[in-house]
Amino acid sequence: MSLSSKHLLGLYGVPKEDIQTILDTATTFREVLERPIKKVPTLQGKTVVNLFYESSTRTRISFELAQKRLSADTVNFSKAGSSTSKGETFKDTVKNIEAMKIDMIVVRHSSAGVPHYLTKITNANIINAGDGRHEHPTQALLDMYSIREKMGKLEGLKICIVGDIAHSRVALSNIFGLKTMGAEVSVCGPATMIPKGIEKLGVNVLHDIDKAIAGHDVLNVLRIQLERAAGSSIPSLREYHNFFGITAERIENNNKDILILHPGPINRGVELSSDVADGPYQVILDQVTNGVAIRMAVLYLLGTMN
Ligand code: CP
Repeated sequence: MSLSSKHLLGLYGVPKEDIQTILDTATTFREVLERPIKKVPTLQGKTVVNLFYESSTRTRISFELAQKRLSADTVNFSKAGSSTSKGETFKDTVKNIEAMKIDMIVVRHSSAGVPHYLTKITNANIINAGDGRHEHPTQALLDMYSIREKMGKLEGLKICIVGDIAHSRVALSNIFGLKTMGAEVSVCGPATMIPKGIEKLGVNVLHDIDKAIAGHDVLNVLRIQLERAAGSSIPSLREYHNFFGITAERIENNNKDILILHPGPINRGVELSSDVADGPYQVILDQVTNGVAIRMAVLYLLGTMN
């Protein structure tokens, strides 16, 4: 089993066979996570740097845990506390870290394209852990894994991504990955949060949340990204919740068979009410557990290619 690229920069253009390989490999690692000793020697001797220039809870901890579960040596870099504050450039920082003989870099950055740039200036395998509004491929892979785990398939499913599509890297990676795997993909949200021309990616556009719930098998509900100025696209969070918030009442009135995903972190009472966030229709913490298995699979498949 191998992938067609030594990097995971996004899901745009990634072949179906590669996505299938990652999902199937993650199934094996998901079993490892249930063992009393959750560790395999697969990446012994490999060194992975987690280069995080932006905040993260789930992605950062699950990558670090995945590396430890695979017996890799792992080092964490945060912008805060680094020599970036003394004026060192991004390129110099990366070249200095590479000089310490590392094999793989997991990178999160607020600027789109940073993972691609890293492939030009280092020889390490690069994994995109979220770059600006561009892509977040391991999030989409764990979303697809979680959907497949609950629904038994991806092909033919009707999946709607709800909310702040315009500011979301999760939306783009989900659209690319789900379309490749044969799902029918829609987006739903206020017109100000749906990029113009998104239909060209082969998705349907809706602005009515009740229709979205009634007409789909799965909703992947996104966070309103206040740190990316999403607040200026809506009159108020209360109004957003009134028109687009997913509540237990809305689900019960429209489609009790729906599966709800959310990549986290949740704005409770905005995109999801707490009775949905903690209720029977969602798999939010399963997504988090599956994220470790997906990241183990990606690290293993890329780390054993060299
Ligand atoms: N879903 C996600 O990327 O969460 P974090 O920002 O906490 O990593």
